[in-house]
Amino acid sequence: MDRIRITGGRPLTGTIPISGAKNAALPLMIASLLTEETLTLENVPRLADVALLQRILGNHGVDITVPGKRPGDGQYQGQTLQISAARIVDTTAPYELVSRMRASFWVLAPLLARVGEARVSMPGGCAIGTRPVDLLLMAMERLGAEIDIEGGYVVARAPRGLRGAEIVFPKVTVGGTHTALMGAVLARGTTVIENAAQEPEIVDLAACLTKMGARITGAGTPRIVVEGVTRLSGARHTVLPDRIEAGTYAMAVAMTGGDVLLEGARPDLMQAALDVLVQAGAEVSANNAGIRVSRNGAWLEPVTVATAPFPGFPTDLQAQLMALMARAKGSSRITETIFENRFMHVQELVRLGAHIRLEGDTAIIDGVERLKGAPVMATDLRASVSLVIAGLAAEGETVVHRVYHLDRGFERLEQKLAACGAAIERLSG
Ligand code: EPZ
Repeated sequence: MDRIRITGGRPLTGTIPISGAKNAALPLMIASLLTEETLTLENVPRLADVALLQRILGNHGVDITVPGKRPGDGQYQGQTLQISAARIVDTTAPYELVSRMRASFWVLAPLLARVGEARVSMPGGCAIGTRPVDLLLMAMERLGAEIDIEGGYVVARAPRGLRGAEIVFPKVTVGGTHTALMGAVLARGTTVIENAAQEPEIVDLAACLTKMGARITGAGTPRIVVEGVTRLSGARHTVLPDRIEAGTYAMAVAMTGGDVLLEGARPDLMQAALDVLVQAGAEVSANNAGIRVSRNGAWLEPVTVATAPFPGFPTDLQAQLMALMARAKGSSRITETIFENRFMHVQELVRLGAHIRLEGDTAIIDGVERLKGAPVMATDLRASVSLVIAGLAAEGETVVHRVYHLDRGFERLEQKLAACGAAIERLSG
């Protein structure tokens, strides 16, 4: 299994191009199931999760073409996918595939909306918490689906099609909102989604669905209204930049010191994270090219942060912020409010010399002057990148094991960091 070796202590200087957002690309690819015409997605990141979803969609009969490079294309541009679900040949999403990537459960809604039936494996447990799907099923039931659980599978039917309804989420759920949207666009009549997630990835999905002919208002607010249409057409859509990737590199620069342009990053997608970085002592500015983050040698200031749905501080940056605060001058508190078990990185950061203790859903981080390199184990995507950030600032060598977690969500991580001066390399095998 691949590992990543980092020799810490070098500042980061230069430019890091920000890729298309994984968490936008996945639902956008799934939305291709809603139309028999071709959906062309640009700026799709080259990630293990995207490749796995291509396989999952392929199993439903979806053809995906990746056109070759065009004159003038940069060396590392995101890929363009031409996705065609002209005929859905299989409405089952099997356990072997869904258990490897939870987001693939979201095929439930477009399959139901388009062909009136779906058989999708329950996703099972996950390193960051129990992560139930009850609210996704509630949304589909509200839209008129009949749902049974048989042999670990959700078997859903809507023989007479879905019909518009009021869907009130008792808690904010990104997957629930994606699901409700994809079900509602082809439902008969009006759907109102209350307490909807406001994440930029929801807005991006709604924008793409609108180009496909859907009638959606209010995406990006807690109340989304969808007027169902009878069919959707193909469209061309560019995936928005990855705010979590950008936030991760911003934290890396704050950690090591230096000066980096996060090319293509959009401040409006990540204001809460930028505010925390400024509070911690980083300098942040934005221009047309992206976001520039720098920090001179000064100490980092401690912060008190609680994760929250957008526009709050994202849970997907919690682990990275904890790595950063491991070297702050004083005591920081980070409270995780979204997932109940998203602290798997704590013990690994402690192996690098961090002083962190847990009190319920809050981590108290007493900053130390120096971290020291060590072998560490990645447990999930964001946890593993927090170990990379810590390793970049730790004295000596850090080896991050189980790198396949990183490959799920960070495109060319080692190359992007190495280009800015980090001593980081992948060790194969
Ligand atoms: C999405 O997961 C993201 N995944 C996650 O990113 C992200 O951490 C999360 O949203 C929160 O922002 C993708 O976009 C592919 P939720 P999702 O439904 O949709 C509970 C990463 O690292 N809940 O918003 O699964 C749930 O347990 C990943 O890229 C229910 O109780 O998250 C959690 O406590 C990790 N019942 C809360 O809601 C349900 O039916 C929010 O989860 C659904 C969710």
